[in-house]
Amino acid sequence: MSILDGRPALKAEVEKVAEVAGYLWQNGWAERNGGNITVNVTDYVDDAIRAMKPISEVKQIGKQLKNLKGCYFYCKGTGKRMRDLARWPMDNGSIIRILDDCSSYVIIADNAVMPTSELPSHLTVHDHLIEKGSKYRATVHTHPIELVAMSHNKKFLGKDVLTNILWSMIPETKAFCPLGLGIIPYQLPGSNQLADATLKELDDYDVVLWEKHGVFAQGLDVMDAFDQIDVLSKSAKIYIDSKAMGFEPEGMSQEQMKEMSKAFNLPK
Ligand code: 13P
Ligand code: ZN
Repeated sequence: MSILDGRPALKAEVEKVAEVAGYLWQNGWAERNGGNITVNVTDYVDDAIRAMKPISEVKQIGKQLKNLKGCYFYCKGTGKRMRDLARWPMDNGSIIRILDDCSSYVIIADNAVMPTSELPSHLTVHDHLIEKGSKYRATVHTHPIELVAMSHNKKFLGKDVLTNILWSMIPETKAFCPLGLGIIPYQLPGSNQLADATLKELDDYDVVLWEKHGVFAQGLDVMDAFDQIDVLSKSAKIYIDSKAMGFEPEGMSQEQMKEMSKAFNLPK
């Protein structure tokens, strides 16, 4: 018996997570247990789910997130592999309920799989999305090779330096990641400091680069968050391939980029 049985809408959301987990692995972005995904599934929760007994002890989030009271999330399990999650999402992740104190949670289904160590970042962002009345329901953290490599050079880490390089590699990047790429200076993985820095930057961007670690993206659903990382990563590959061929890529001109913004009605 799974919580997904007889709940096609909830099942579809979890299946999308599994599909994206497969893409992360195939892209080489998800070594071992690298990366994590959470989805706010509260919209798919019915009375029977609300009545389900916890299957874990009460666990602390480590911060109080007042907008998450009574919310439910699908979370990748800590230490679990994306390549396994792609096939067995409910054995490599679980559904949690945030308790009324807004600072703790319990696991309710299917198995007592402990959520990701990056839960502080994911839940802090979800809390803020609810506060803003956002339609975004999914957050994805992964380790894309080229973008992480670029984060090892300080020259790329100034505000919007990388955004402009990546936008200029191929027109679609600006169209499909119209806010660009925010930059978060190195912080300890899983820390509240990383969560707070991520939260601040996601007011201006949908994807942020965690220096020397990975990216964190928010989106309408897990597919939307993945797509934005994918287009940025494609641009990073074009940049690096050009350099590998021995030349500095010219990039689209500022004029051509402005023309794109006008034609596609983009915010920047
Ligand atoms: P988890 O296995 O706890 O999700 O951690 C993976 C990771 O990428 C940490 O940044
Ligand atoms: Zn990571």
